[in-house]
Amino acid sequence: MDADAWNTRYAGSELVWSAGPNQWVESELAGLPPGRALDLACGEGRNALWLAGLGWRVTASDFAEQGLAKGRAAQDRLEAGGTPMALEWVCADATAVTWPPDAFDLVVVAYLQLVPPLRREATRRAAAALAPGGTLLVVGHDSSNLEHGWGGPQDPAVLFTAADVVDDLAGLGLEVVRADRVERRVETEDGPRVALDALARLTRPA
Ligand SMILES: C[S@@+](CC[C@H](N)C(=O)[O-])C[C@H]1O[C@@H](n2cnc3c(N)ncnc32)[C@H](O)[C@@H]1O
Repeated sequence: MDADAWNTRYAGSELVWSAGPNQWVESELAGLPPGRALDLACGEGRNALWLAGLGWRVTASDFAEQGLAKGRAAQDRLEAGGTPMALEWVCADATAVTWPPDAFDLVVVAYLQLVPPLRREATRRAAAALAPGGTLLVVGHDSSNLEHGWGGPQDPAVLFTAADVVDDLAGLGLEVVRADRVERRVETEDGPRVALDALARLTRPA
């Protein structure tokens, strides 16, 4: 899907994704000391808003302005309710943007489903912005989800495994903390289902 298609998807007033953070973002990152974070392909900003609420200084980036606008509106509401946030919204194509080196202590890439060459480009560009000691978390719909899991894109070309992410980042000097297939429970109209996600967590050595 290009930016126009995503803008159309985000155009309604309803949230497309949840208001709260993704399950893996929350469980993997809740214990990290706040610093500077990049939420790449942030969509409506659920993960960026959660991180900013924890005290992170967050750059939330996506190529869909409509998603960013919803994130900004949520930030305004939270700040009006007394939660100040250090959060900037940047419209950019993840496959072409150049982030400043050493700019982030945390990079989150959640459910950015691109064909392999573009996924590799976007992930390597974001990883290059990681400061020493920083954490990179990539989560997405696992390749096996199509056959064995619930929901997610139905195009196998945009699914990936955690091992694919590790391969994408080869040669950048990152250390793999975990690279797994994980099960996410989803409540549907037809009852609980299991979605299969790829989860890769890496660090840049200090
Ligand atoms: C499935 S949504 C996930 C949004 C968010 N990360 C979340 O977990 O709620 C995928 C997002 O990737 C964005 N996206 C897709 N291709 C992109 C690209 N080349 N550059 C920047 N954003 C992109 C879309 O606009 C969309 O917001």
